[in-house]
Amino acid sequence: MIKLFKFKDAKEYYESLGDDLVKGRNEKFQNKEKPLWFNVGYWKDSESFEDACKNYADNLFDFGDLKDDCDILDVGYGFGVQDIHWAKKHNIKSIKGVNISPTQVRVARELVEESGLSDVIDLREGDAVSLDFEDKSFDAVIALDCAYHFTTRKDFLKEASRVLKPGGKLVFTDMMPIKEKNSRFGNYLLKLNAIPKENFYPKEHLISFAKSIGFDDAKFEDISQWVFQGAAKFGEQRFKGKNVSDIRVKLNPKDEKKYRRAYNLSGIRRCYMFSMTKEK
Ligand SMILES: C[S@@+](CC[C@H](N)C(=O)[O-])C[C@H]1O[C@@H](n2cnc3c(N)ncnc32)[C@H](O)[C@@H]1O
Repeated sequence: MIKLFKFKDAKEYYESLGDDLVKGRNEKFQNKEKPLWFNVGYWKDSESFEDACKNYADNLFDFGDLKDDCDILDVGYGFGVQDIHWAKKHNIKSIKGVNISPTQVRVARELVEESGLSDVIDLREGDAVSLDFEDKSFDAVIALDCAYHFTTRKDFLKEASRVLKPGGKLVFTDMMPIKEKNSRFGNYLLKLNAIPKENFYPKEHLISFAKSIGFDDAKFEDISQWVFQGAAKFGEQRFKGKNVSDIRVKLNPKDEKKYRRAYNLSGIRRCYMFSMTKEK
């Protein structure tokens, strides 16, 4: 039985989701056709879940202007599908990853083994806010669709700054409010989705914090229109029990208001890609 109301933290939340991003639709890894991408998707020019998730990973990589031949740390890697995808597409020197969910770590490691990329990709269990790596180890730290879960996002930024080489990049997507204070109901909805209320502040706050701990050149792009509606339409069909691979999503500007409603109630109103550089 899915726990709908209370999760101690993101670890418990993701363990309870199993192999499905939509609550209550866990197929316990029995459906071998099911894509194990695990993000909300970037639905511009993508109608299937798999394409939207891949599109999200590619857009973030390009937004960060990440180079081949670099050492990457991927934080909150889901089932590691994006790491396999990036490693096949780019000539990356190494990808290390940490993820809080033991089930995801186990499955991700199996997928990496099957892909034959174990010499490039090394995925471990770990927490974004206490990274078990030496200072100045990476050229880039990536967090695709997960930093809002970290307790706290600011602690993650400090850790990312520590493990990045000078001139290295922190590149992540995130969902945020546009004001500092949430309603009680909004906080309750965030709790249901394992999002700590300490992470509730708008992008201006995040950017000035990043600057205060030594990140330069912060840039962002508002991608809300390509994320929220698509994710909500996908979730609606999946919730009704349609197979992940059979779901097709069509964006329509006229539907934007309706499908933003659930996010708005939680206080989350924007989705951004961020890229910033650790000062030299
Ligand atoms: C929405 S999923 C995104 C997964 C993956 N990045 C993708 O795009 O498919 C959020 C991920 O963040 C991970 N996560 C949540 N809190 C974490 C933490 N404190 N440290 C590391 N990983 C965490 C979850 O286990 C999950 O894999």
